Amino acid sequence: MAQTNHFDSIAEVFNRIWYFSDDYKDFVIHHIREDLSLTPEDILVDIGGGTGTFTSRLADEAHLTHAYCVEPSSSMCSEAAKHENITAVCCDADDFLASHTPFSKMLFKEVIHHIPNRAEFWKTLYASFQNGGKLLIITRPQEIKFPFFEAAKVEFARNQPPFTMIEAELKASGFEVNVIPRSHTFTLSKESWYEMLRHRFMSDLRVFSDQEIEKGIAEIEENRKGNETIDIIDNLIFITATKT
Ligand SMILES: C[S@@+](CC[C@H](N)C(=O)[O-])C[C@H]1O[C@@H](n2cnc3c(N)ncnc32)[C@H](O)[C@@H]1O
Repeated sequence: MAQTNHFDSIAEVFNRIWYFSDDYKDFVIHHIREDLSLTPEDILVDIGGGTGTFTSRLADEAHLTHAYCVEPSSSMCSEAAKHENITAVCCDADDFLASHTPFSKMLFKEVIHHIPNRAEFWKTLYASFQNGGKLLIITRPQEIKFPFFEAAKVEFARNQPPFTMIEAELKASGFEVNVIPRSHTFTLSKESWYEMLRHRFMSDLRVFSDQEIEKGIAEIEENRKGNETIDIIDNLIFITATKT
């Protein structure tokens, strides 16, 4: 069932405020295609696929005939439904698995920290896959390198499960697991970055009031006076798990 969450409030601006460069998107898409070994025969499920931007590009570039964007925020899901080459399914990860829809590959990009009862979920997922079924989780270490203010870094770490824990859970469920850290650095204008923070582009920022966000921006600004741009170091962890 569709539900209200933080992402309902930012759906309209999500694509606009996520200023990450085309280069960044190319980098992520390239590794998703490789790590999931996507072929035209695959049925891809993008869990928490948001506005479907990545699902649609993957369907297009890997020549998929079936790709689902599974998204519980009704506003985000409505945006995803505008892509004609994918199917938007407005529900959460558990409800999707319970629907017994067949699939061969599953993607969790920046969503794993939202999935409750992961151990149970992996068990059901393992049983749902045929041999050769594969999932890819793209997540971040608890110590984020983003130019956040201190309180935001603490909040991020609090919400983020350690990737070693996810790795252990997957192994315990029977998957063969491979973990690869990859880093990408890009430069934004400071104004673009501050606008992203003001729009609380990551759900970890939702607990901060407007006043706290402005105080946080002033804290970031303190060390960067005189610079027009800001470097964003994105340290990502790619976890692939295969049913062999
Ligand atoms: C940070 S966004 C990532 C969106 C997209 N994967 C991307 O990388 O652009 C996280 C998404 O996960 C969705 N989400 C939250 N809880 C979920 C759940 N239990 N099952 C599936 N998706 C969920 C949110 O609504 C949101 O759209």
